[in-house]
Amino acid sequence: MRMLITGGTGFVGTNCVDFMLRKYKDLTITVVDNGDASTNRHNKDYLLATYPDRCIVYHVDVRDRQALEEVFRDQKRFDTVIHLAAVGSNWHALDNPKFAFETNIQGTINVFDLAQQYGVDKFCNNSTTETYGPRHPSSTFFTEESPLQPRTPYNISKAEADKYILEHMNDTMRTFITRSSNIYGERQHPHAVIASMIRSCLLGKPIKITGDGNQSREFTHVMDVCSAFDTILHKGQPGIYNIGSGENVSINRLAEIIQGHFDREEDLRIYGNQRPYDDRQYGLNHTKLGGLGWKPTVELEGGLRRTVEWYKSIRGELDFEIIESSFGEVQQRVLMKQNLFNTDSVHPSLSRA
Ligand SMILES: NC(=O)c1ccc[n+]([C@@H]2O[C@H](COP(=O)([O-])OP(=O)(O)OC[C@H]3O[C@@H](n4cnc5c(N)ncnc54)[C@H](O)[C@@H]3O)[C@@H](O)[C@H]2O)c1
Repeated sequence: MRMLITGGTGFVGTNCVDFMLRKYKDLTITVVDNGDASTNRHNKDYLLATYPDRCIVYHVDVRDRQALEEVFRDQKRFDTVIHLAAVGSNWHALDNPKFAFETNIQGTINVFDLAQQYGVDKFCNNSTTETYGPRHPSSTFFTEESPLQPRTPYNISKAEADKYILEHMNDTMRTFITRSSNIYGERQHPHAVIASMIRSCLLGKPIKITGDGNQSREFTHVMDVCSAFDTILHKGQPGIYNIGSGENVSINRLAEIIQGHFDREEDLRIYGNQRPYDDRQYGLNHTKLGGLGWKPTVELEGGLRRTVEWYKSIRGELDFEIIESSFGEVQQRVLMKQNLFNTDSVHPSLSRA
């Protein structure tokens, strides 16, 4: 069996390669990633050292269709493609919306089209629950049929890619769109909320929280997300699947749990302005996935414990490169870019080459 995982030296990608290669001994995986962030290098070294004969890594940008096609040609055939390459956070997409749109939309189109063209059997695109928009406390949880209401460059770009895939699916390549809640775990880049809190604790710094910290999120451990991909690829019917743990937690509670894993004498939290698009809560219904026999196995407190242990164990190996902005600066930048977030301006520029 042969699999292509794009974004395979990223957070979810590396864990996914690890999960699949441990589970399927006859599997080889080709990774495509453009990454050279410190976490990517660390992850790539890990994969190549652990699976020298079963994992190959191409340093290719998914926006570059020609280079991508060479990978498909070189490797002859893939049974399955899991597409994870993306500008995967609101912050980074706000910082460089053009790159985010090009990667998340045109890059996805490139990977999807080539997968169809080169006879791939199964294709999985990991999207996000944020494409549904925020949930009002009195409304029901989002199902796969709920309308999309994306509001940020990241969410809009993911929603546009989903639409393209849904419009171009065919009967030959079994195609799945997964919409995941927030994912956490080992190997995440420290811009993400949990990893950033752990990083602050490791460095003896206060935990910075935007807003009052009472906004809540649903977190799913990365291993449960990987097992969900596996279940969907093997048992699912082509279409959309929500992936979530059902465990919602406030940002304040997260900070308390994480600080509890360090010898801090006092609660070191500082609060900044709420971000303009920092939704109070999302709400995901993953009954459809449950119907395939999948259920989450890592509960939040245990998952956080093992995540903290992992970051403690690699301390010193990763240089925690991260852009430190004051909350005021970030907010100003977001407000200035608000008028770019019009979906109508995105679609016409997209083409299938
Ligand atoms: N982490 C989460 O909480 C979460 C939640 C829902 C959905 N997702 C989705 O899961 C996927 C993986 O996210 P992640 O958290 O692992 O992010 P990540 O940033 O750790 O991984 C993304 C990978 O894609 C690579 N990449 C980015 N632009 C590229 C390009 N132009 N060409 C080739 N490679 C490129 C990066 O180098 C990185 O290794 C993304 O599609 C993201 O939208 C993530």
